[in-house]
Amino acid sequence: MSRDVEYMRRALELAERGRGRTSPNPMVGCVIVRGGRVLGEGFHAKAGEPHAEIIAGEAAHHDFEGASVYITLEPCCHHGKTPPCLDYLVSHKPARVVVAMHDPNPKVSGQSIFALRNAGIEVEVGVLEDEARRLNEAFVKFITTRMPFVIAKCGMTLDGKIATRTGDSKWVTCEASRQMVHELRNEVDAILVGSRTVMTDDPSLTTRLERGKVKDPVRVLLDADDYLDVNAHVFHVASTAPTWVVVPEGRDFSGNAEVLKIRRGGRGVDMVELMHELGRRDIMSVLIEGGGTTHATAFEAGVVDKVMFFVAPKIVGGRDAVTAVEGEGVNLMSEAIPLERMTARPVGVDVLIEAYVKKAA
Ligand SMILES: NC(=O)c1ccc[n+]([C@@H]2O[C@H](COP(=O)([O-])OP(=O)(O)OC[C@H]3O[C@@H](n4cnc5c(N)ncnc54)[C@H](OP(=O)(O)O)[C@@H]3O)[C@@H](O)[C@H]2O)c1
Repeated sequence: MSRDVEYMRRALELAERGRGRTSPNPMVGCVIVRGGRVLGEGFHAKAGEPHAEIIAGEAAHHDFEGASVYITLEPCCHHGKTPPCLDYLVSHKPARVVVAMHDPNPKVSGQSIFALRNAGIEVEVGVLEDEARRLNEAFVKFITTRMPFVIAKCGMTLDGKIATRTGDSKWVTCEASRQMVHELRNEVDAILVGSRTVMTDDPSLTTRLERGKVKDPVRVLLDADDYLDVNAHVFHVASTAPTWVVVPEGRDFSGNAEVLKIRRGGRGVDMVELMHELGRRDIMSVLIEGGGTTHATAFEAGVVDKVMFFVAPKIVGGRDAVTAVEGEGVNLMSEAIPLERMTARPVGVDVLIEAYVKKAA
């Protein structure tokens, strides 16, 4: 492994520590090295707080002339909540800057790299780029489309059911899988479910993890037809995050939640329009936790980016049992939604299958 790869891997590890806290910013890590010695390390911990380059520079006592700076993303060149990292880097005269990937923001991309080179600094781009892109997959989607990165998640039996024919679903998957779902909730900005899941399961949709600091995602509930009851548990949980109820234009909801009125479309609200609205509210990532009808409307609208299906070693059977994706479905196998980069790994006694929805080129 080359030294560049080694230090960039370390920068990626550092960046990962900001997961779930940097939105709508990307996760970024930085390592500063001179003469084979690490002078400073840093990562972006939270939106509004200092960027990775500044933290690493402070750790190096602002003395890194002639050093190599490894950053997981092209440094920023604009004034946001903090001053541009580009100016900070240039003024401290490193010999070399290695970045994993360009800033995907089309308005910014490449400008800092150009400016660094103009200042006489050697710049290398693309070290561990695939890993860096995957780390910031939500940010890349959000900054290029202004829509959130959407994960469709469910726990299903080996025969594809997410509940029995009576609607019972406690529990489909094992403890380890359910724990992992709480980790996911701790990372995403919002969690979205349909009204029947709220009324059947009466969930709280909060993040419950043993360790200290966790955050709840915003709870987004779809209600096409006045099915939600204001007494449902979700409207009364103690949480730092709000609950939003999504209804079609012309309808309302009187419970303890903010109401989002979205244009009608499909079998309820237009899911593309909903994602635009969530994007306008700085929601960078959404975890859809079912049920089957809600997954179907999301897939039909083409808003899903990734699937995470936890498959339990159980058979439930029954043509009336809810499946992972309901709706009408397609007529022909050639019309199926294609997935790519599918992987499988064990989680407790279950298997987690992850894949990405193949987008038209
Ligand atoms: N194992 C798992 O991972 C898992 C996860 C979640 C749920 N479940 C199970 O799944 C079952 C519920 O699934 P389900 O398919 O019956 O229902 P669901 O998806 O939870 O809810 C369907 C309802 O959501 C609303 N909805 C969906 N798409 C909408 C859209 N685009 N715009 C507005 N509203 C929309 C509609 O509300 P209206 O009714 O008002 O038209 C629709 O009837 C339950 O038994 C639950 O236990 C299992």
